[in-house]
Order: sequence, then structure tokens, then C-alpha cells
Amino acid sequence: MYTRREITSQERLQQQAYCEKVKAAISARPHYAAVDTYGCQQNESDSEILRGWLAECGYLITDDMDRADLVAVNTCAVREHAEKRVLGNVGALSHNKAKNPELIVCVGGCMTQQPTVREKIKKSYPVVDLVFGPHEVWQFPELLWQTMERRGRRGSRRRLIAADPSEGVVAEGLPRQRDSAVKAWLSIMNGCDNFCSYCIVPYVRGRERSRRPADIIAEAKELVAAGYKDITLLGQNVNSYGKGLEEGVDFPDLLAKLDRIPGDYVLRFMTSHPKDATEKLFRVMAESEHCAHHIHLPLQSGSDRILKEMNRHYDRAKYLEKVALARQYMPDLVLTTDIIVGFPGETEADFEDTLSLVEQVRYDAMFTFIFSPRTGTPAASMPDPVTRAEKQVWFDRLLDAANRISGEKHAAYVGRTFRVLVDGETGQSPYNLSSRTKGGRLVHLAGDPSLVGRFIDVKITDSTTWALYGELA
Ligand code: SAH
Ligand code: SF4
Ligand code: F3S
Repeated sequence: MYTRREITSQERLQQQAYCEKVKAAISARPHYAAVDTYGCQQNESDSEILRGWLAECGYLITDDMDRADLVAVNTCAVREHAEKRVLGNVGALSHNKAKNPELIVCVGGCMTQQPTVREKIKKSYPVVDLVFGPHEVWQFPELLWQTMERRGRRGSRRRLIAADPSEGVVAEGLPRQRDSAVKAWLSIMNGCDNFCSYCIVPYVRGRERSRRPADIIAEAKELVAAGYKDITLLGQNVNSYGKGLEEGVDFPDLLAKLDRIPGDYVLRFMTSHPKDATEKLFRVMAESEHCAHHIHLPLQSGSDRILKEMNRHYDRAKYLEKVALARQYMPDLVLTTDIIVGFPGETEADFEDTLSLVEQVRYDAMFTFIFSPRTGTPAASMPDPVTRAEKQVWFDRLLDAANRISGEKHAAYVGRTFRVLVDGETGQSPYNLSSRTKGGRLVHLAGDPSLVGRFIDVKITDSTTWALYGELA
């Protein structure tokens, strides 16, 4: 049964003690560690914690797998394609181990929560020394230390297959090595209770649990003080933030509280389930100083029948109503979405419903996927008579529409001036800098690298399907 459990400061300190043990064990020469991340922003955020722990354990963090003495692979289970890629890359690490027998291979993330995957790794991937789940990131130093202690043993006792089902943990104060000095992830909750019929996430990430508002606000204040300019609040469905907390704070309340932190920065969030996106949310966004006028509102399907089968709890009319309301509050709203093509039992008519809704809403950007059956989810055992080739035809038609609409929307930016945040260098010329509008659209420009981390006004001069191009105004 699920219980929410906050990790105590005592437990947190114990992990620090394990860091010291690992540090002492590897102190004879410099040791390098690489973290390889798949999947969504939640995983990117967890990988930042893994790097934080590894640094505390005395490792030098590198992107170079071939140089690493420890590789941690943070996996994603959302589609079969992602899983296959991960296992291929994990298998390939046996070459690295042949060269460096001391190499420690750790596999974490959502895939490891599936018993079938754990079995597969146990049987067919002897290169792996440690398997741990997303609920155990907070105790990674302890698991790493236990793995090191096992190395001298023989047979199956040599490896540690953890993946603890204690899914209700909320841990504060973990170290974190952030990927960027400009943009920051800020996880506000974990897990998902929605059980969309196609989706593995609720099974691998566990039940929904929110961090306390005071902890989130404190972290946001630290980020702003440290100079971060772009903060993205993360949750599988941020709209159900706060359920089960005694504070009585919902997501729009949290957003409004964060918005009051003084400073020059942008607040974003991902992801917002349409069933719980409320007028209050749109109003708070519209009235806020820092909040980007961008909503990622995953549609999944435009067919009422398929939406019902997907267990999404909204229909076409309700979705369109919410979009209209959001645009009423924010006429400059940037709207993006996810769509699944070829859900079991989907017909040509259902697909046409999706296409017509897309033409009606006109998204700024769309992420489109072909349905991938996930073992253990209801959709995986629904009759699915449409062939892959037929689904591909639908997929291509949808992608054509998505690209045409994005291109048209981007073209409308040309000639206008926008305030953008310069967030990095592209390594290309002449457009050597990348930046984002407040709505999140990518703008390439030419300028001095010292502009990274600054808000500047840019005149948009050109556009493509994927990006905008501009010059300093
Ligand atoms: N919590 C987010 C999405 C997480 S997964 C939300 O509810 O919007 C990201 C996207 O992957 C989903 O929006 C969906 O479009 C897609 N997806 C999830 N499961 C899938 C599956 N089994 N096959 C194909 N696409 C899937
Ligand atoms: Fe998956 Fe649905 Fe939860 Fe999103 S809301 S993570 S699609 S179950
Ligand atoms: Fe993948 Fe897990 Fe995210 S399954 S999409 S990494 S929550």
C-alpha cells in the first residue's frame, strides 16, 4: 500500500557517510563518472542528482563514456524504441569493461521498475553491476558502496539488483550538479495517478506525491539568487500538485507564490493534463510577472471514442473549450501538445478527428508518437488490427500537418521584435547563440558569447519549421 514518506535529515546524513566511504576507496587515482540519460525532464532532473552524488563521492564528472570508471544509465520505459536503444547501449559497455575491468556499470530509471526488465538484465547483461529504481536515487551512495563491497564475490552475489518498490519517498536537500547555469529544472512532485490506459509511467514512477510548498519556494529563491533565469517546474501532471498535503495549496497557488519571488527570470512548467487545467490556472498565468505564456497540453487524440479508451477524462469539446479559455486570458499563448497515432482500435475516422482538431487548434509545436504497447498496461492487451504500415501513413500525414502549421506560425514572427533569454552557444556560424522567447520558441542569433544568461531584444529576420532566426535589435 502507498504511504507518503519524507526522508529524514538523519537518513540524508547517512548517505553522506557512504559518500565518504566511496571517496576513500577511490582516492588512489582520479576516477571519472558518466551519467547517460534517456526519457523526460524528470529523468534529466534525477540525473543531475546522480551527478551531484557522484561528485560528493569523489568522482570527476565526464561526458566521455570511454574514459569513465563508472557509468550510470538513467533509463526510460515509455516506448519500446527507447528501451531497445538503452539495452543496446548497456550491452555495448562490455567492450569498455574488457578494457577497464574496474568499470562499474549502474542502470537506474523507469525501465528497472519492471520485473521483466530486471530479469532480462540479470540473465543477459552480466556487464551490469548495480540496478536501482527511480525511488532510490536519494540513496544512491549507499547502493554504490554496497556494489563496491560485492565486487570480490562470485556469481550472482557479485551484483546488486535493488529496485525497491518503496515508491512514496520525498527527499529534500540532495546534492545536484546542474546541466546549465541559466536554465534549471525544479521538480515539484513525483509519480502519476492518472493511469492513462497506454502509459507505463504510473507503474514505474509510483503514486503521486508533492514536495512541500516551503521547500519548493526555498529552492526557487536559491536558484534566482544564484543567477538562474529560466526555471521549469516539473511533474507528470502539475495540475494535481498539492493533493494529500495539509498546506492546502494547489498548483495555481504555488505558481502565484513563486511568481512573487523578485528578480528577472521566467517560470515554466511541464506537464499539464487537460482534464485538470482550470480557469484559475490561466488567470494566474495571465496575471503573473514571470510565468511564460506557454502551455504544453497533451491532446493524445481528437476522437471522443479513443479518448475514452485512453482513460483521459475529457472529450474533444471540453479540450477545445479549455484552449479557447486559455487563449482568452493569454492572446499570445504558445500551445504545444503530444499525440499518439494508432491506439488499439483506432480507425481512419478517429484519425481524421485528430487531424481536424489539430487544424482547428493550430499548435505551435507537436510531439507525435506511434502507439507502443507497454506490458502491464490495459492498452497492451486491446485488439489492435491496424498494421504498422497503415499507422505510419497516418503518422506521416499528421507530421506533415504539424510541420506546415509550425512553419506558418513561425513565419508570423518575422519582422517583429521579442525579448529573449540567450541560453547557450550552438557551436555553429554565423548563428552562434541560441535563445528562447518567453513563450519558449527557439531563436538562433549571432552575437558575443558573453550574452549567454542575459535577456535581450531580438528582431526576427527569418524562420523555419523548427526555429526562428534573429538579430540584436
Ligand atoms: N505526463 C505527461 C506525459 C508523459 S509521457 C502527460 O500526461 O502529458 C510523454 C508522452 O509520451 C505522452 O504524452 C504520450 O503522448 C506519449 N506516450 C506515453 N505512452 C505511450 C505509449 N505507450 N505509446 C506511444 N506514446 C506514448
Ligand atoms: Fe502517463 Fe497519463 Fe500519467 Fe501522463 S497523465 S504520465 S500520459 S498516465
Ligand atoms: Fe520515461 Fe520515466 Fe519519464 S518512463 S518519459 S523517463 S517518467
